[in-house]
Amino acid sequence: MSTHNKTPFPVHWEQMIKFFLFLLGLLPVIKLAVNFWRDQLGADPLNVIINDTGIWSLNFLLLTLAVTPFRLLTGWNDLNKRLQLRRLWGLYAFFYGSLHLLAYLWFEQGFNWSDILDDLFTRPAMAIGLLSFLLMLPLAITSHSSMIKQLGKHHWKQLHYLIYWLTFGSLIHFWLLAQAKADLTKPLTYVILLTLLLLLRFPPVLNRLTKKPNH
Ligand code: HEM
Repeated sequence: MSTHNKTPFPVHWEQMIKFFLFLLGLLPVIKLAVNFWRDQLGADPLNVIINDTGIWSLNFLLLTLAVTPFRLLTGWNDLNKRLQLRRLWGLYAFFYGSLHLLAYLWFEQGFNWSDILDDLFTRPAMAIGLLSFLLMLPLAITSHSSMIKQLGKHHWKQLHYLIYWLTFGSLIHFWLLAQAKADLTKPLTYVILLTLLLLLRFPPVLNRLTKKPNH
């Protein structure tokens, strides 16, 4: 692994790649809207919307957490600086999380606040989901690079460690919901993916993969 590598694409491609990635992030919601419009979301379309937006929020959380291991593996040290991938994917996680929460409040509960409170108090999965969503708020608010200056790099970094806690929370939320349906395949897949992403941050694992001599 080289510590000097630059991400291998020219500067004038940066804006184009960023725009392309921005459009890619919109595809899941466009696909959902089109399929809903065409009546192609199956027997329970509203539940499909709730589940899909939840899955995409989690997908973007994992993509955000994949940026650092990818950078370490490739040695493309300026990757995030040039494309601001963590910010883009983190904001998409928040966007899909907000749609997911809205879909739940609207389609599942019809904005009946006493039923919602009841659900939050009786189903731990719901309370943990909400807590995870609330932890996303400070991250979304401080996502702009100007906030690093305002908060100071140290405090900004400390705050952004919340991503780990909210990802663990989302996985517990997912796990409990799947447990109720007696099928843990999907959440287990995500737990394995997250474990691999976290392992890739450890120098011994990383050094083995990048064949960096251990001295
Ligand atoms: C960071 C925030 C959240 C993430 C990442 C998340 C993620 C997920 C995921 C992955 C699923 C399962 C999808 C599937 O089975 O295909 C799900 C389902 C669900 N979530 Fe969330 N969730 C979050 C917050 C919330 C909140 C705040 C609520 C409501 C209080 C909520 C309510 C639900 C409901 C009702 C389901 C569907 C359960 C079912 O039909 O079996 N989620 N969520």
